[in-house]
Amino acid sequence: MQTVDFIRMEDGTREEYELLDRLENEHNAGLPDRIMEALRGLEQSFSGYRVSRLEHCLQGATRAHRAGESEEMVVAVLLHDIGDGLAPYSHSEMAAAILRPFVSEKIYWIVKHHGVFQMYYYAHHCGGDRNSREMFRDSPWYQDAIDFCHNYDQNCFDPDYDSEPLEFFEPMLRRVLANPNQLDAEQVARYGQSG
Ligand SMILES: [Fe+2]
Ligand SMILES: [Fe+2]
Repeated sequence: MQTVDFIRMEDGTREEYELLDRLENEHNAGLPDRIMEALRGLEQSFSGYRVSRLEHCLQGATRAHRAGESEEMVVAVLLHDIGDGLAPYSHSEMAAAILRPFVSEKIYWIVKHHGVFQMYYYAHHCGGDRNSREMFRDSPWYQDAIDFCHNYDQNCFDPDYDSEPLEFFEPMLRRVLANPNQLDAEQVARYGQSG
């Protein structure tokens, strides 16, 4: 494996950064495979529910697909809880960050805040404020986030629903992940980017 000579980024040359760029592109091409692997990992997640986290995500994505939603939306539903393992206290943001380059601003926003909107269904049983979503009342996507949670999240814990298997969604996932938007400087400032 070819490597660069520098040990501090400030010393890197144009040729070295071109090499790294090429290798990064090759690595990025494996993203759909890594996402599929992470989704399979949701088979072992929270216990207590009547379905696994993977089944929950498949059920949501199946409902979204059958309701005629766009592929972007179906894939967003499929991935909305993919952060449960590594970001249990901020899973919505993790899923939104993964989806960010591949979906509309609106879908990004919905996924990023779905955790707060989902509180409407349970927080009053746990000493929380079920109306926390009201902080987003002025957003143009407030009602869309309510609909997302109502139709493709809170109702997706049914062990008898005939969900499509993960493989059904794989071509869709690959199509949606095929065209990342390059974030411009303003978006990087707003959403952050690794360096
Ligand atoms: Fe969630
Ligand atoms: Fe969920």
